[in-house]
Amino acid sequence: MPARGRPQLAEVASPVLVEDPALGHRAAAAGPDDLCDNRLIRGDNLAVLLLLEPEFAGRVQCVYIDPPYNTGQVFAHYDDGVEHGRWLAEMRERLVVLRRLLTDSGTLFVHIDDNELAYLITVADEVFGRANRIAVITFKQSSVSGPKAVNAGFVSTASFIVVYARRRAAWRASRVHAATARDARYTRYVDNIDDPPERWRLVPLRHAFARAHGLELRSLRGGAREAELEAFVLASAHRVVRTARIAARDVGEPAREVLARSAAQPGVVLRAERPGREDMYFLGGEQLIFYSSKVREVDGRRVTAQALSTIWDDLLPNNLHKEGGVEFSHGKKPELLLKRCLDVATAPGDLVLDCFAGSGTTAAVAHKMRRRWLAVELGAHAETHCLPRLRAVVDGEDRSGATAATGWPGGGGFRFFRLVDAPDG
Ligand SMILES: C[S@@+](CC[C@H](N)C(=O)[O-])C[C@H]1O[C@@H](n2cnc3c(N)ncnc32)[C@H](O)[C@@H]1O
Repeated sequence: MPARGRPQLAEVASPVLVEDPALGHRAAAAGPDDLCDNRLIRGDNLAVLLLLEPEFAGRVQCVYIDPPYNTGQVFAHYDDGVEHGRWLAEMRERLVVLRRLLTDSGTLFVHIDDNELAYLITVADEVFGRANRIAVITFKQSSVSGPKAVNAGFVSTASFIVVYARRRAAWRASRVHAATARDARYTRYVDNIDDPPERWRLVPLRHAFARAHGLELRSLRGGAREAELEAFVLASAHRVVRTARIAARDVGEPAREVLARSAAQPGVVLRAERPGREDMYFLGGEQLIFYSSKVREVDGRRVTAQALSTIWDDLLPNNLHKEGGVEFSHGKKPELLLKRCLDVATAPGDLVLDCFAGSGTTAAVAHKMRRRWLAVELGAHAETHCLPRLRAVVDGEDRSGATAATGWPGGGGFRFFRLVDAPDG
């Protein structure tokens, strides 16, 4: 956590935050309703958080922090090795203040790797209460490739995000979906969907696909053309079906009677109309379900989706180093990872805080998602990385990362502050 040049609190006798108006930025066309009071602050985060506390206690909806993992390495922008006990004590101090800043319904995300994971959980359990630990998410952050794949043993490809509610009973979270692979159990296709269900003809999905694309069936052998097949399934999701067992006790009247009748009429699709609810369909004593129930828009794309699990292996972009237009090796996180956290834990207008800002990913994504934000970074990259990155977001010039998924056109603004020692007297 401590980085090169880090001031000890004792050295900063009476720190204050001083705004540098020349470094703040506002969109040319920012109107009165635009979010412009976002703050990028350069300084040690403990001192800064304590100074922010009188104004922001109980007002931050979401904290995402990605502190140095304490791996013992020295990176280009920060040192990543301090004595274990000191690292833990410093994390604890910060977690205590962060908890006070959160709203009653707020969420804390702490990103960490397996080096300090167990110790961090112990300390955070103590600060937040074990009952408020919501989840430990496994994030796939690299692949099994390169020199490390040659060694015996395990190739480490994961980091973790530990999630806490400020108070579980009041916790506010949204249902979020993640993209997943095509569900190959849906193998049939309704050829004549505009006819009444009793006359529906179900043909094999692969036949319908081959016919639609003028292909020989044998050209699909061995999973060939999977990407096109998936696109076909997504485009005709209301016609792609499978059957699934359903117990009569799980079906209300009058659908139960239709289910029983369908067992006696194999080959015929029967529809049960349910006032005020979606119709149900049955075939051969089973329920007929449609692929459309699995399709959702995720990050601006129509995909096969499933409810968010605690394994996030779908978020590693090939061009992470280019996101936001700033290079920040070791530690930079994908914008869509932050978007997912903020999708779960915040709504537009909510206040988001990251006090280990690094290259400014959290602030950039919060801004694109129309959340308000506070970002704190100790290193010079507050000015060399966060500043240009956030200016480009405000000006609508950053086309990377979460821009397409959020439809961000530019706008709003932010102010820049420095932590300085107050002049005597
Ligand atoms: C792993 S990086 C964060 C990367 C960030 N999530 C991103 O996507 O760019 C951790 C950052 O915490 C900063 N840091 C370490 N100790 C700090 C402190 N006491 N106050 C503020 N920032 C600190 C480091 O300088 C480094 O930039």
